[in-house]
Amino acid sequence: MTSAPYRLTCVLFGTPPNGAVGRLRRSLASMSLLREPLLLLSRSQQVKKLVSTMPVSAGIVRSYVPGESTGSAVDATAELVDKGLSVTLDFLGEDTLDAAQADATVTAYLELLQQLAARGLARSAEVSVKLSAIGQALPDSGHKTALENARTICRAARNAGTTVTLDMEDHTTTDSTLSILRELRKDFPETGAVLQAYLHRTEADCRALAYEGSRVRLCKGAYNEPESVAYQDTIDVDRSYVRCLKILLAGQGYPMIATHDPRMVEIASSLAARYGREQGTYEFQMLYGIRPEEQARLAASGETMRVYLPYGEEWYGYLMRRLAERPQNLSFFVKSLISKK
Ligand code: FDA
Repeated sequence: MTSAPYRLTCVLFGTPPNGAVGRLRRSLASMSLLREPLLLLSRSQQVKKLVSTMPVSAGIVRSYVPGESTGSAVDATAELVDKGLSVTLDFLGEDTLDAAQADATVTAYLELLQQLAARGLARSAEVSVKLSAIGQALPDSGHKTALENARTICRAARNAGTTVTLDMEDHTTTDSTLSILRELRKDFPETGAVLQAYLHRTEADCRALAYEGSRVRLCKGAYNEPESVAYQDTIDVDRSYVRCLKILLAGQGYPMIATHDPRMVEIASSLAARYGREQGTYEFQMLYGIRPEEQARLAASGETMRVYLPYGEEWYGYLMRRLAERPQNLSFFVKSLISKK
């Protein structure tokens, strides 16, 4: 019988002949070709089952997801806050088609917010929520259920002394997510939004959201989108990111600059200076485990640096999207599967 890691390697790359692992590593140099397959795999139930048999402590998983329990996420938050970083926590889970599962996600956020408040962390740590994890994808009642559930989380966040940001998912959900955001902001104007620079529509969305009090996280975008709605070339996505940065930094809102790209960080810093933005009127954001030295450098230079910290058992889709962004890490991932460490 073959092991689960071996079977996963076969699903990813086909059955390797003798010595193939070495050749596999060498071929990882041309990994950009793997972005689309990896994003497809992020939705494959078969591969999910195989990968999810790994304990979360396995090498690369642990480096992106600090734990599965609320306690471990709050401990990791405390460590980051001690280092002068801010945090946004994401309870992992998406595409829920089950109302009970959506309720369980809401309960997890309520427990998290209560623990953040009890540990005195709510001033430095907020939460990020995927609407598909709290019911947006439910047939018929999705929009309404997600809005009600998001309201419950926003209320708990406010009581705890912190805020909520709504993550943005694939383009079929953008209108619904922005409409839920508008509804939520009537009662909870502090609720943050995410816009994805790879979408053609995003410059217009930036203009619409660059008003006073509006918190907008700008990222490049992590899903596999068709060219009818999204730029396909890196250079076009980067150009769009810069145009969006200009709109947000010149506007009246609170831009949250979410990128690990050194060029984008540099451009954002000079645009902030050009538009007379003081530190603290915008912030940088990066994912847990990615470029930690740069995170520390930005915080030490007086910038607000927020780390996006995902936790929970449903880490598979998140991990696959991270691997799709940086397929070099796949070599490390496959090695950790094979050695079962
Ligand atoms: P990109 O992947 O284009 O890489 C550009 C350069 O950055 C690289 O050449 C390298 O120099 C550097 N770099 C990138 N990754 C690195 C690594 N692992 N190690 C070292 N250097 C690295 N997406 C989405 O669709 N919806 C959402 O709600 C969010 N939310 C979100 C929150 C936060 C806080 C972040 C940081 C990101 C998101 N994203 C997201 C993901 C985002 O859309 C995007 O997929 C990733 O951030 C990758 O794009 P980058 O801008 O980081 O650079």
